[in-house]
Amino acid sequence: MEKQPVALVHLGIIMDGNGRWAQKRSLPRTAGHLEGLKAVKRIILAAAEQGIGFVTFYAFSTENWKRSAEEVNYLMHLFVSKLHGEIGFYNKHGIRVLVKGDIAGLPPQVQTAIEKTVEETSTNTSITAIIAINYGGRDEICRAVNTFMQKNPGTAISENSLASYLDLPQLPPVDMIVRSANERRLSNFLLWDSAYAELAFYEKLWPDWNGDDIQHICTEYGKRVRKFGGVQ
Ligand code: IPE
Ligand code: IPE
Ligand code: MG
Repeated sequence: MEKQPVALVHLGIIMDGNGRWAQKRSLPRTAGHLEGLKAVKRIILAAAEQGIGFVTFYAFSTENWKRSAEEVNYLMHLFVSKLHGEIGFYNKHGIRVLVKGDIAGLPPQVQTAIEKTVEETSTNTSITAIIAINYGGRDEICRAVNTFMQKNPGTAISENSLASYLDLPQLPPVDMIVRSANERRLSNFLLWDSAYAELAFYEKLWPDWNGDDIQHICTEYGKRVRKFGGVQ
């Protein structure tokens, strides 16, 4: 009997190429970010249609603070207006929103928008969209180690116990990490899960992504053989 491809449960996306999308059109980089957030909405719906349960979007890294104040401020403004401002959209489509990253390090108005969005979408069940914001894989691991040591002084850390202190430990592990805009690196995204996640890199700039890209990703994932160190 032919083997059925395994379903993609949790997809991680490194949304890259917003700046280049804008540059190609002689627009300011901020225009690319605005368009990139429209793509997020399209992709959540497409992922739900494909039966993907969880999508983690890399929206702002712990390294992105290095960008100009203008760009960072615009991104923070977008996070407020597009998180808080889209609750109607999330609820209409059954989208639960969660966040991961060092939320306490964000401006207060972004934290308030996040809290409200997470709370008001918490009972939605079609798909879970996780926004990684002020997120770094190394930072996530350091925060988890610090909390672990505070709560379990003098105890050695094991992989399982540490995993339970990472951000959103209740979620299934990320099965596949994809990146747009032809860059082939993780840029500090999901370092723990990437130990065994499948990887795929695509040329298309993030603001141009649509449902076809998600369909390709599901087909690609179905071809992968996951062995986790064992023998298939
Ligand atoms: C990704 O697009 C969005 C964020 C990192 C916030 P970029 O802004 O990195 O786009 P490029 O890489 O400059 O094209
Ligand atoms: C990674 O993209 C961060 C996000 C997508 C939020 P960058 O554009 O910041 O990554 P580098 O600097 O090219 O590695
Ligand atoms: Mg980039």
